[in-house]
Amino acid sequence: MNRNLLLLTGANGRTGRAILKAMVDQQLPVRAFIRDSRQAEELEQLGASECVSGDMTDPGSIAAAMKGVSKVLHIGPPMHPEELPITQSFIKAARTEGVDHFIYYSVMHPLRRDVRHHRLKLDAEEALIESGLPYTILQPSRYMQHLVPIWKNVTEDGVHAMPFDVTKKFNVVDLNDLAAACAVVASSDDHLYATYELAGPEALSQEDMAATISDVIGREVTAQAVPLDKVAEKARAAGADADRIEQMLVMNKHYDEYGFRGNPNILQYLIGRPACHFRAYVTQLASTP
Ligand SMILES: NC(=O)c1ccc[n+]([C@@H]2O[C@H](COP(=O)([O-])OP(=O)(O)OC[C@H]3O[C@@H](n4cnc5c(N)ncnc54)[C@H](OP(=O)(O)O)[C@@H]3O)[C@@H](O)[C@H]2O)c1
Repeated sequence: MNRNLLLLTGANGRTGRAILKAMVDQQLPVRAFIRDSRQAEELEQLGASECVSGDMTDPGSIAAAMKGVSKVLHIGPPMHPEELPITQSFIKAARTEGVDHFIYYSVMHPLRRDVRHHRLKLDAEEALIESGLPYTILQPSRYMQHLVPIWKNVTEDGVHAMPFDVTKKFNVVDLNDLAAACAVVASSDDHLYATYELAGPEALSQEDMAATISDVIGREVTAQAVPLDKVAEKARAAGADADRIEQMLVMNKHYDEYGFRGNPNILQYLIGRPACHFRAYVTQLASTP
């Protein structure tokens, strides 16, 4: 076993790539678990020490990927109905391999059971805690990066449109801060048996966000709540399957009602500096060509 090699799952995704970069910055050797071997070249360019391809729903490919690693950071595919059996397969393979640190990338407030993927992550947390493996559970809030796909509309039409009540507050967080926190957690044993809520530094409504964006880009931007039938229509047109659309609607309805507020202290403690504020994130986004 390589005493430092970490298996990173979901490595080719939005979250996985950000975490890979942060791990590489900390000089942590990473074996990237990817779905398609054609993704390997790009991930090795990003700094993955090695890549292994497999399907998360196939316990055989998980067992093979686990050979020789000492740590795992498991990121499940978003809103996947098999989140629990997938995580159980990684847990089983990690136990067989004698892995000494299993980091599970969960979500903030997994106890919001009305939202299926929160509930499934809660079940997966329970399975990990009861597995006997040394673990750390990370519970990230909603990413600031959800602004990226709508950025063109925000700047061109002056509308910040999200499927939530424009007054409900969210502690949105910069994915790069989350990635830095993951690298810190993976770098030592100091965080074993911890469950960390990772929220951004401010509670912001869509109206607050629109006002900040207006300030930064110098044109008026207004917040707009997108009706859920429009969300479904757009997702259908983009090719999302029926289950994914249903889960998105459930989540959006829940956030619309309750918002998504959390506490930023642990994130700041982990990364050793103040977490990125929304204004700084938008300033950076606005200056990216
Ligand atoms: N977005 C947020 O604000 C937020 C907040 C908290 C937590 N999270 C959690 O973060 C996690 C990752 O989200 P993300 O937005 O980074 O997702 P993503 O960009 O869709 O990435 C998911 C990755 O998983 C891979 N994958 C999917 N199914 C697979 C399978 N059966 N076998 C092997 N690989 C598979 C995908 O492979 P391909 O590249 O081949 O498609 C992709 O690389 C989710 O669990 C989500 O709940 C997200």
